[in-house]
Amino acid sequence: MSSKPTVYVGMSADLVHPGHINILQKAAELGDVTIGLLTDAAIASYKRLPHMSYDQRKAVVENIKGVAAVIPQETLDYVENLEKVKPNFVVHGDDWRTGVQAQTRQRVIETLEKWGGELVEVAYTEGISSTALNKSVKEVGTTPAVRLSRLRRLIDNKPIVRILEAHNGLTGLIIETTTAEHEGRTVEFDGMWSSSLTDSTARGKPDIEAVDISSRLQTINDLFEVTTKPLIFDGDTGGKPEHFSYTVRSLERLGVSAVIIEDKEGLKRNSLFGTEVEQTQSSIEDFVHRIQVGKKAQVTKDFMIIARIESLILEKGMDDAVTRAKAYIEGGADGIMIHSRNKSPDEVYEFCDHFAKFDKKVPLVVVPTSYNKVTEAELADKGVNVVIYANHLMRAAYKSMSKVAKSILENSRSAEVDSEIANIKEALAIIPENES
Ligand code: SPV
Ligand code: MG
Repeated sequence: MSSKPTVYVGMSADLVHPGHINILQKAAELGDVTIGLLTDAAIASYKRLPHMSYDQRKAVVENIKGVAAVIPQETLDYVENLEKVKPNFVVHGDDWRTGVQAQTRQRVIETLEKWGGELVEVAYTEGISSTALNKSVKEVGTTPAVRLSRLRRLIDNKPIVRILEAHNGLTGLIIETTTAEHEGRTVEFDGMWSSSLTDSTARGKPDIEAVDISSRLQTINDLFEVTTKPLIFDGDTGGKPEHFSYTVRSLERLGVSAVIIEDKEGLKRNSLFGTEVEQTQSSIEDFVHRIQVGKKAQVTKDFMIIARIESLILEKGMDDAVTRAKAYIEGGADGIMIHSRNKSPDEVYEFCDHFAKFDKKVPLVVVPTSYNKVTEAELADKGVNVVIYANHLMRAAYKSMSKVAKSILENSRSAEVDSEIANIKEALAIIPENES
């Protein structure tokens, strides 16, 4: 055993930069350094999921000079690990005095006091920031394999995964780059939904599987050229089982993370029509067969085939929905999507209560288009893993574009629409290359 003082350094170490090395050098001067490496879940609790997995990050930091040990830090809060390690020093950059980590810092100071430990703060290294590096990583892009596996990582590490509909490169870019402040944290979308409704609508076609798979894959290609976030594909009915196996392979090859197929057959109509139009639900046997054909075709381990249950949409009752969920999971589905077109979330919540009691656990997906007053926190509380905002960018664009077209006609000029539209500078700034 070394008689040197023990030094604890908590870090994410996703993009290791000279600022980290500086902190570790200072720490090593004080004693034997133990790194408390934040787990994916700990990082995702206050900022975006790291690019590298825990194991990859560990492989990097344990080989940095002066690092004696690496242990997982399961929460943003240090206290549990500090109580275990009882370090003489904690070393951290001084940039955590303000912002989301200020409270964490305070708890570190109070805990160290118990055994006379000390917090040593190292001046923030100017000119380098993880935010800027993150931006650079996005410019470099991603690979199909990294993008594909990201959805499972998100589901495993976030209370709820937040997905928004994209139907072309521009909508993909909006999802990639939009951030907002919510309850003191910077939040963003985790990924994209390639909706059959909006991909069809963008082409002026009905949502009846009339847009062929090659065209749908072209949309994904457009999205993937300009984004790094994962994508869930709306596979409609999956088509003929013999065709579905090709669809699965094509999606995987591109780096799509999951396909959701719905238990309908024949001429598929959009679910939000409910029973206003003729729609036929598949038998459990036929649908399980479709899932299994897809699972057999799949080549990567992380791709997901998610079974979508239309029983509530088609008013077949809760028992039918629950029976199907069990059968689909038993049949190999990697997740369940329960759909509803009620204004109230009650039937979805009732389903969640049944789902929570299932022996075999898989992720649960919901699409709260009609019951849109529910919050993500409420859904997460009910055990929902993924929320999809399925059509909102397309609806926003349609309303705004129609209004502008009408105004130009009414005024026989475009001056009146200025307040409704982005100015040229804003429009150019949407595309990152225009800015550099
Ligand atoms: C879609 O977005 O195409 C969907 C969800 O399938 S819904 O439109 O609600 O059926
Ligand atoms: Mg659809």
